[in-house]
Amino acid sequence: MTSVFENEDLDHDSVENSMQPADSPELRALYEGFDAEHLMPLWTQIDDLMPMSPKPKAVPHVWKWSTLNALARQSGDLVPVGRGGERRAIGLANPGLGGRPYVSPTMWAAIQYLGPKETAPEHRHSQNAFRFVVEGQGVWTVVNGDPVRMSRGDFLLTPGWNFHGHHNETDEPMAWIDGLDIPFSYQNDVGFFEFGSDRVTDYATPNYSRSERLWCHPGLRPLSGIQNTVSSPIGAYRWEFTDRALTEQLLLEDEGQPATVEQGHAAIRYVNPTTGGDVMPTIRAEFHRLRPGTATPARREVGSCVFQVFEGTGAVILAGQETRLEVGDLFVVPSWVPWSVQAESQLDLFRFSDAPIMERLHFDRTHIEGTDR
Ligand SMILES: [Fe+2]
Repeated sequence: MTSVFENEDLDHDSVENSMQPADSPELRALYEGFDAEHLMPLWTQIDDLMPMSPKPKAVPHVWKWSTLNALARQSGDLVPVGRGGERRAIGLANPGLGGRPYVSPTMWAAIQYLGPKETAPEHRHSQNAFRFVVEGQGVWTVVNGDPVRMSRGDFLLTPGWNFHGHHNETDEPMAWIDGLDIPFSYQNDVGFFEFGSDRVTDYATPNYSRSERLWCHPGLRPLSGIQNTVSSPIGAYRWEFTDRALTEQLLLEDEGQPATVEQGHAAIRYVNPTTGGDVMPTIRAEFHRLRPGTATPARREVGSCVFQVFEGTGAVILAGQETRLEVGDLFVVPSWVPWSVQAESQLDLFRFSDAPIMERLHFDRTHIEGTDR
C-alpha cells in the first residue's frame, strides 16, 4: 500500500479527470444563485475541505519560557486576579490560528501566574483541565474541596465540572502551565460554566490530598472505588513517582531488559487507575526522558500535541526547522507535521495531546520516517 506520507504533494487538481466547468455567463449566474441561497459547491472547495493528507492551519511554534515568565510577571504587577477574569492565565496563541488563543485546533495551553498570598476564586466548567509545574511551589489547588499541593514536576488534574480554585501560601509568586480542551469545546459548543466560592473552600495545606491518600498506592485499588470513572480520581501525579519510573526504565535498559520505547528513550503515560486509559476523555499526558545524545526518529501523527522541557537542553526539529530548547520552553506540533527531538544533556519532556479524541473517533494515524509504519 502506498502510504499517505508519500502522497503528500498530490492535490485534487493534479489527479487526471479533474473537472472544472468553463466560465460562462450562465455559470456566473448559477454561482450568484448559490450565494443568494447560502450554498457552496464542493468542486470549488475540495482542495481545502478534503486534502490528500492533513494540511493544518496551526503552525509549528516554540515559546521560550524566559520570555513567557517575564511577561507573566509583568501581568502580575498590572492585572488583578479575581471574579470576572477568574485567572491570570495567558494563552499560547498559535500564529496560524487567526489570533485565537488556541495552541492547536483542539487544545489550550497557558502560563498561569499567582502572586504572593493571592487566591484565584472557585469555579467549574465542562472543559477538562490539568496543570504541570515546571518550577516553584507553595500553591495549593482545591478541587471539589480537596486541597492539592502543587510542586515542581507534579501533574495535577481538574477534570470537567469539578469546582476548583487556587491559593498561594507564600511570599513568592508562582507560575505553571495549564492545559485544557477549550478550543475543542468552543468549536463544538459544549461548554457550561458556574461560579463557586469567591475564596477557596479549604485553606488547609496538606502534603498529600485526600485523593492521593485513597488512590496512590501502587497496584492497589480501594474497594470503595470499584466503579470506573470517566476521568482519573487522582488529584496529583507526583514527580517522585514519575522520576523513579523513568530512572528504572533506563536502569533496566542498561541491564539489557526491555523497558524503554526505543534505545535511550524512557517514557510513561499518566493513566486513570480505574480504566488504565487516559486521565481525561479529551487529553493525553505523558513524560519522556532521553539519554544525552539520543535523537528520536522523525514522525508524523494525526492530532496535535504540546511539549514542555522540564529539565536539560536539546533541540526540536519541526517540519525541518531546528530550534534549541532550554528548561521551560514549550513547542506545539500540529497534525501531520514531522517532528523529532534531540537530547544534548539528559532531556526530560512533558507532553500532552488530543490523542484520546483522535483515537475514540478512529482518526488516529502515525508515520515514522524511514519505516513502513
Ligand atoms: Fe478553571
